[in-house]
Amino acid sequence: MKPPTILTITQRKGGVGKTTTTLNLASVLAEMNYRVLIVDLDDQQNTTRSVSSLVESTKTIEDLLLKDLTLKDVVVQTDWQNVYILPASSNLSGVVKYLDGEVGGHLILKEKLVKDNDFDFVLIDTSPSLNILVINALCASRYMFIPLSSKYLSLQGLSQTIESFKKVTDRLNPDLKLLGIGFVQHDKRNVLANEVVEQVKEAFPNDLFKTMIGINIKIEEAQVKKQSILSYAPDDRGAEQYRELGKEILAKIQGV
Ligand SMILES: Nc1ncnc2c1ncn2[C@@H]1O[C@H](COP(=O)(O)OP(=O)(O)OP(=O)(O)O)[C@@H](O)[C@H]1O
Ligand SMILES: [Mg+2]
Repeated sequence: MKPPTILTITQRKGGVGKTTTTLNLASVLAEMNYRVLIVDLDDQQNTTRSVSSLVESTKTIEDLLLKDLTLKDVVVQTDWQNVYILPASSNLSGVVKYLDGEVGGHLILKEKLVKDNDFDFVLIDTSPSLNILVINALCASRYMFIPLSSKYLSLQGLSQTIESFKKVTDRLNPDLKLLGIGFVQHDKRNVLANEVVEQVKEAFPNDLFKTMIGINIKIEEAQVKKQSILSYAPDDRGAEQYRELGKEILAKIQGV
């Protein structure tokens, strides 16, 4: 069994598009016939609720991290073909407290993800705050993807995120690679937004993905309807752009 490619989608600024990117990239990879597991580490549960209905008996990431359970006990198949989810729970403060007090608490998710994992890709969606769950995600991952909106405040989040990346690679997981930075909510008619893109290009010439996802109401609508943009509007520009971004990401992972 080939180990899965594990990728964390993270950015310290809230609302930039982490969840939307996780969902749509999962859908792009699933369309390419890969089996994809989404891990929702944000107790807002936005990702989980976009692909599944939670009932009381649904086990969550909290059960996986706190109890003697394996991935198979907790993973739920979604309505999206080839896409599975490890659901978030509605309050992760207890888990954070437990992990903070546990020896090697930053490695528990990794421990759980390496055992009996027959997925091709694991995409981890994170909360904007930097807590031990995000550190767990980065310690379990080979790659990190930073989504950006083209708003100025997004840049501040970017530098904080890069700072955390450096600390994790220096201290905890030297194998973690910055897969890249991608604009996932770009308003190309806005002069300020284009300036933001230029600044990022200049600062990170080798890390910025060429494909940019435009601001697009269909992408938001798809999420409300619990669909990916690929199934909601398969011929829309948003679907095309996410497919392009997926191809670029895959090419970078495969080193072509
Ligand atoms: N390209 C886009 N065009 C229009 N709306 C978008 C686009 N991408 C994301 N959105 C919308 O922007 C909002 C915020 O996106 P999302 O929830 O993915 O951000 P987030 O980074 O996960 O937020 P949080 O930090 O709260 O977890 C959502 O309503 C989403 O549907
Ligand atoms: Mg989110």
